[in-house]
Amino acid sequence: MARLIDGKGLAQKMQAELAEKVANLREKEGVVPGLVVILVGENPASQIYVRNKERSAEKAGFFSETVRLSEDTTQEELLDTVEQYNQDSRFHGILVQLPLPDHIDEEKVVLAIDPDKDVDGFHHVNTGRLWSGKPAMIPCTPAGIMKMFEVYGVELEGKNAVVVGRSNIVGKPMAALLLEANATVTSTHSRTKDLSNITRTADVLVVAIGRSKFITADYVKPGAVVIDVGMNRDDEGKLSGDVDFDAVEPLADLITPVPGGVGPMTITMLLEQTYEAALRTIR
Ligand code: GUN
Repeated sequence: MARLIDGKGLAQKMQAELAEKVANLREKEGVVPGLVVILVGENPASQIYVRNKERSAEKAGFFSETVRLSEDTTQEELLDTVEQYNQDSRFHGILVQLPLPDHIDEEKVVLAIDPDKDVDGFHHVNTGRLWSGKPAMIPCTPAGIMKMFEVYGVELEGKNAVVVGRSNIVGKPMAALLLEANATVTSTHSRTKDLSNITRTADVLVVAIGRSKFITADYVKPGAVVIDVGMNRDDEGKLSGDVDFDAVEPLADLITPVPGGVGPMTITMLLEQTYEAALRTIR
């Protein structure tokens, strides 16, 4: 029987602590951390994420704004909006919700964000800093996973860590962070041969591929720490992870559930990074 990593509980505790830090900052320095989320179009999943971000930011006492732009917004208009918030000192964090509509060049937009306000950690200045082992804004999902390792006492030094998936949002930055923590890291993906032979070497297995219940017991070494980033909907609309939880849980030492695992930590780290960005403006 594995111990469960309670991401939901940890996120609630961290957000409550953050609310206190925000109140202190307002009282002592007159600074309120400001976060703007820019949403283009009607993607249903994005709308849910953005609403959750809004709610959490307000609950933690942030100055929060959401810009909702129509699906036919031009790239120029979006770039102008980003620039407006780059210049606005009330905002310490700018997040452009992805994916963007097809007619917009996502990379151009991300690179238009001031790297010091890039709370998603997607700007090349931040990815470059991350891969160079320098202080950086870090993509929120892998940052949340590192926080879970810390809180649950998962030692990474010298351990075999296998990351399944190589997205810019999760897989790649996750590999960089594990490497920085002195793990021996293997990055795997859809073209990897004999995947289960590799994942079975993992002391720490992080899965972010977007395929429901793909990781079965055959893929997991007994005693492994298993982190499931998946958020899939099955035919009945029920949420499931990339890991077949019922099959893998008996084998693992520690495992994240879906929902209630990695998901809630992502918003928490977004707020943490926005708070840290606000602090840097007064230091
Ligand atoms: N879409 C899905 N995940 C993310 C994320 O972490 N940040 C942004 N900006 N868009 C996303």
